[in-house]
Amino acid sequence: MSLAIIYPNKDVSNWVTALHACDPKLKVEVWPEIGNPEEIEFALCWNHPAAVLQQFPNLKCISSLGAGVNHLLNDSTRPTNIPLVRLVDDGLKQSMAEYVMLGVLEHFRRFQDYRQQQTDGEWKEQQIPHMSEIGIGIMGCGEIGRYVANKLSEFGCNVFGWSRSPKEINNIPVYSGNDELDKFLKKANILVCLLPLTPETENILNTQTFNRLPPKTYLINVARGFHLVEEDLLLALESGQLSGALLDVFREEPLPKHHPFWSHNKITITPHVASVTNPKSAAVQIVENYRRAQNGETLLNLVNVEGGY
Ligand code: NAP
Ligand code: GLV
Repeated sequence: MSLAIIYPNKDVSNWVTALHACDPKLKVEVWPEIGNPEEIEFALCWNHPAAVLQQFPNLKCISSLGAGVNHLLNDSTRPTNIPLVRLVDDGLKQSMAEYVMLGVLEHFRRFQDYRQQQTDGEWKEQQIPHMSEIGIGIMGCGEIGRYVANKLSEFGCNVFGWSRSPKEINNIPVYSGNDELDKFLKKANILVCLLPLTPETENILNTQTFNRLPPKTYLINVARGFHLVEEDLLLALESGQLSGALLDVFREEPLPKHHPFWSHNKITITPHVASVTNPKSAAVQIVENYRRAQNGETLLNLVNVEGGY
């Protein structure tokens, strides 16, 4: 019996090494080089091709190779009787906190302006408010959002969150549901999207949302490209409702060569690298879930398929 890694066009040798470091006897196969599909009991997937999961009649568990599961939930050919798990990983949280902190500080300390000034040979101090005067709103206070909010708060930022259900995170105010979205948005000078992609959250970063923010809010989208209505972002940047955006995720990835975001002077782009799963860090829970799946035990980090994340 074996585990299949299904991650097209990617060298996954570091994954194989990390899984073997946790369990040297584990049989790992890398799609499409699968010996006998009947032996595959566990599928570890990222960007898997449609219908591939149907090739394995004895699957006991399907795991996302990341935190998000929209790629699996949106696959209408996925066998729905097989439990679905995802990664909840300290490495993913830390790496996301680094990225968001960088985005917040770059914006707040006006580094874009200083880069331009360096190009122009201009020596000029930019005025900035005290950090506590900048409201940072985190949309999505789950495993990653909560961690990021805590790190920003420890650093002295004025941070608050928004989630589906009410919750408490240390001293950080958390708004919940559509009823409290307005209260949340109107304080956010920096808006960070860390929501899962679901039918309710798709296109949530749109003109209507932007117009409920204070003028000149800075947007950081590190969740999924389909959260953002791209034309609405361009309009909001043009009108000044948003002052800029740091985008890590896009509706189409890689971002097409002629996409207007590439050359927009108020948009910073990274290629979906805000928080990349580290095989060494994540392998332990995958091997543990493989063991649990084989023994019919409760799996770690089960996805609430009905809830959509
Ligand atoms: P998670 O633990 O499932 O947390 C999701 C959060 O979003 C929860 O707080 C949830 O509310 C909230 N939420 C869900 N639907 C909502 C709605 N309709 N309205 C308001 N809040 C809603 O997810 P996670 O592990 O933190 O990961 C979040 C996302 O980050 C992933 O799904 C993935 O898309 C993205 N991500 C991106 C990268 C990257 O490199 N760019 C890396 C890792 C993850 P409740 O708490 O009330 O359930
Ligand atoms: C990355 O985007 C993830 O969901 O882990």
